[in-house]
Amino acid sequence: MKLPTTIAIDGPAASGKSTLAKRMAEALEYLFFDTGVMYRAITCAALSAGLSMDEEAKITALSQAAQIDVQPASADDGRDNDILLDGVDITWAIRRPEVDANVSVVSAYPGVRAALTAQQRRIGQRGRVVMVGRDIGTVVLPEADLKLYLDASVEERAQRRYDERLRRGDAISLDVVLADMRKRDEIDSTRDIAPLRPAHDAVILDSDHMTIEQVFAYALKLARGEAGSAE
Ligand code: DC
Repeated sequence: MKLPTTIAIDGPAASGKSTLAKRMAEALEYLFFDTGVMYRAITCAALSAGLSMDEEAKITALSQAAQIDVQPASADDGRDNDILLDGVDITWAIRRPEVDANVSVVSAYPGVRAALTAQQRRIGQRGRVVMVGRDIGTVVLPEADLKLYLDASVEERAQRRYDERLRRGDAISLDVVLADMRKRDEIDSTRDIAPLRPAHDAVILDSDHMTIEQVFAYALKLARGEAGSAE
């Protein structure tokens, strides 16, 4: 039996797609590649350069010049990889609330998407990869062998993100997280270029009604061509 060599996993923020992708990549011995880190890296660079998020031309130029690298983890502090921007470690900086609040705006700029999509495609075409994002099955790797779209209600996703923040020691309210999540969903799914939506041939999984274990087991069966129906 032939395994899919490229697996695309899309879905909204905090739907559990990175967790699923990491586990699949580990099980299949594939590269796990989270494309969201690239949009976050550019947002981080724009903030560090003191740019206002409406300076589209400057942010686009920055995305064309930026060297984003993903390397094996150099520290045992919960990171999956080291994320480097022009050689500087920004692994944790890209998770700051300030980046969360601005990344949807940056990722809606067509020039930024063109620059990053080209890099993502190059990595994807090497094969043996589980690539995660919003437009992997629709735009980055429309030829992917297996496309999954992981969904969950906004309330469930906000609760997960809130729990994650609490564990990290952030003082934040659930209402604020829920409002931010709704705003990001709106921007991600209504932008003109590469909006968040399932590819026509994606398998849609609803993680509100499935544990991560069930989602993982089913996705692995799909990858191995053993899946009958989603239970
Ligand atoms: O998955 P994430 O929360 O790290 O993504 C950060 C932002 O980047 C999010 O607002 C959507 C955007 N993004 C995108 O537009 N396309 C991708 N392939 C990945 C992320």
